[in-house]
Amino acid sequence: MLSLRTISSKGHKFVQEVRLCFGRNASNFPKTGIVLLNMGGPQKIEQVHNYLNQIMTDRDMIQLPFAQEYLGPWIAKRRTAEVQKKYEEIGGGSPILKWTNKQGELLCKRLDSVSPATAPHKHYVAFRYVPPYTKDAFTELERDGVQHAVIFSQYPQYSCATSGSSFNAIYKHFKDKNLPNDLKFSVIDRWSTHPLLIKCFADLVRKELAKIKNDKRKETIILFSAHSLPLKTVNRGDSYPSEVGATVQMVMEELDFCNPYQLVWQSKVGPLPWLGPFTDDAIKSYVKKGKKNFIVVPIAFVNEHIETLHELDIEYCKELAEKVGVEEIRRVPAPNDHPLFIEALTSIVNTHLQNKVAVGSKFLNRCPHCVNASCYHSKKWYSEVCNI
Ligand code: FES
Repeated sequence: MLSLRTISSKGHKFVQEVRLCFGRNASNFPKTGIVLLNMGGPQKIEQVHNYLNQIMTDRDMIQLPFAQEYLGPWIAKRRTAEVQKKYEEIGGGSPILKWTNKQGELLCKRLDSVSPATAPHKHYVAFRYVPPYTKDAFTELERDGVQHAVIFSQYPQYSCATSGSSFNAIYKHFKDKNLPNDLKFSVIDRWSTHPLLIKCFADLVRKELAKIKNDKRKETIILFSAHSLPLKTVNRGDSYPSEVGATVQMVMEELDFCNPYQLVWQSKVGPLPWLGPFTDDAIKSYVKKGKKNFIVVPIAFVNEHIETLHELDIEYCKELAEKVGVEEIRRVPAPNDHPLFIEALTSIVNTHLQNKVAVGSKFLNRCPHCVNASCYHSKKWYSEVCNI
């Protein structure tokens, strides 16, 4: 088999030579790049249309029944005004880039201290549907002369529609390029049960529960809310529902099963069947049963964005709650820059660097009913290039 690294990029090689002149740990030359994957969100109202257009035409994310190249842009155009209004109501744009950069900076600072052998570390943001894109992240990473790129999904629970789409985008970016000889790749694809992630969520829940009135606290239902998936995706064998369930189970164990709880699903779009019960329907039904106090936990989001700030805060915790007669409902913040969350990220990457497992076997194995050729080629590519 021909090596994918037959020719080293001149830019990368040059930086490597300069690095040698200045010493391996020169602070301007990161040795380890941490590439943070997420879907991203429009920072400005003007980006909303392009963002929706890219989502609706991404067949890894969503499979429309026919002519997606025409139907996708048509749906995106139709939905733009409504989605722009939502972004206006949360301040004019998504804070996801701000949070991801903050998390990346704090993570790399901690990594420099706990893993000096792989320092300096630098984070790179690779969003799927808004800048900075995959190509922006890897262009900068190569220009910096990074020796090892750790591709770190920022979705704790793996779904082929979200994490998988980002990983496939990296494969598509590199498939026709020669890789720099001295750039190593490795993958962190899922971390739904990491003990510090669990402790972080448990801490956030405890703090919010403490704000509920004393006489109502014990009966308050903890609703763990995650982004839903089309049932077609679930039945293909996507591991996301079981991984979200694992996170919920471990958070409740950490909380000694202190309250009634329920996993619910949000953000369904379109007429096809999706995984339920849906968050809004669950609130309505519980209120009808006389249960009127809730804590809502965004269990699959690691930073604030439109689904937490608009869908949960405005549509459910305010508008719906007032309409159906909820007594008290509080939304737990996303992990954001919680110290336990930064420690979780640090521990995940540090363990990965020490263990030297470049890519997990679960990641390389496709869903039992996957028919997506991109997944086949992408996983083959990762099995060839990942090496630490
Ligand atoms: Fe899951 Fe392709 S859809 S691996």
